[in-house]
Amino acid sequence: MSAAWLKQAPGAMVNFFKGRLSQARTSNPEDIARGEGAIVQLDSSKAAVYRDEDGRLHAMSPVCTHMKCIVDWNSTEKTWDCPCHGSRYDPYGHVINGPAKRNLPHRGLEE
Ligand code: FES
Repeated sequence: MSAAWLKQAPGAMVNFFKGRLSQARTSNPEDIARGEGAIVQLDSSKAAVYRDEDGRLHAMSPVCTHMKCIVDWNSTEKTWDCPCHGSRYDPYGHVINGPAKRNLPHRGLEE
């Protein structure tokens, strides 16, 4: 276990639980403007939902593929950012920056 890991571990744990406990931004994907994203509370789970400039919705898991923190929408950069270790994903869930190596899995909005 490295010293660098030990330094970031407490902050990462706090962010992990904050993300798990935080309220979803909306329960209705129709509230999402074009070019924006939000965490949407579905019946029993959450989804990271992006509405593209043509108005189409793209839904994916909000669970970071690195160590399972919940990503958050960055409206300035138009990215999904993970608060735990800094992974970033494009609006469609493709990894831009690690440590995550796998994209956010796509999912339906009906779950
Ligand atoms: S949990 Fe580590 S970058 Fe997301």
